[in-house]
Amino acid sequence: MKDFYKPSNIKSTKEDVVKVYASQEEASQYTANRIAAIVKEKQAKGENAIMGLATGSTPKGVYQELIRLHKYEGLSFRNMITFNLDEYYPMMPIEEQSYVSFMKSNLFDHIDIVKGNIHIPDGTLSIEGIQEYCELYEQKIADFGGLDIQLLGIGRTGHIGFNEPGSGDLSKTRLVTLNDLTREDASADFGGKEKVPTQAITMGIKTITDAKEVILLALSKRKAEIIQKAIEGVVSAEVPATFLQKLQNIEYILDEEAASLLRKG
Ligand code: PGA
Repeated sequence: MKDFYKPSNIKSTKEDVVKVYASQEEASQYTANRIAAIVKEKQAKGENAIMGLATGSTPKGVYQELIRLHKYEGLSFRNMITFNLDEYYPMMPIEEQSYVSFMKSNLFDHIDIVKGNIHIPDGTLSIEGIQEYCELYEQKIADFGGLDIQLLGIGRTGHIGFNEPGSGDLSKTRLVTLNDLTREDASADFGGKEKVPTQAITMGIKTITDAKEVILLALSKRKAEIIQKAIEGVVSAEVPATFLQKLQNIEYILDEEAASLLRKG
């Protein structure tokens, strides 16, 4: 790790709220180890680890490292219960772009997670059923005692999950409309922006910030501008990730490129 500091506007007592790593691999490895540590700690107590997971290009290296820990270091995930942040709407699970497909190919198919322990918002619901489903998603998280850790990426709009600009800090799991920039960023996956769904089901800001620990992972130069706003900017629904500044239990894990516009502390 090259550098760390505590921006003065982050209300945390921890010295290491922002960790900057020299490479994407090191940042991913640190994040995977944090997740693995919770899984092991809970195993030792005979408890489940309740994990909030993310999709996108950012966490891929984290999942690769978790798979490696499973395959070569004997780490079991049988006590892991997962809740994914979001899913496009509408979306069939079998479609290549679904977050169900993403999670299977990038993690779940390669570890010993119990299939019944996986929760990903359902993109196949009828519009009328969505609200009740979202309330149930929240209830399930609560029934497990809440999320032990929530892993997040960040979108260039400042979204966490699919909480786009305008999302309030009390928002819960719900149907949302995707921001134009978000759809543009997803266009390569769908073969054109017009094919990207306009809506999604996402955990809310409150669902995320209620987690016992939160990790926001951001890698590459593409994220430098939004990371500067998220960490050093004014807390506002205009950049939903700024709501994380209020947390005591937040870690921003960055590579040097994503951190490059931060004021040096
Ligand atoms: P990305 O997406 O990891 O593909 O950049 C992050 C996000 O939109 O949360």
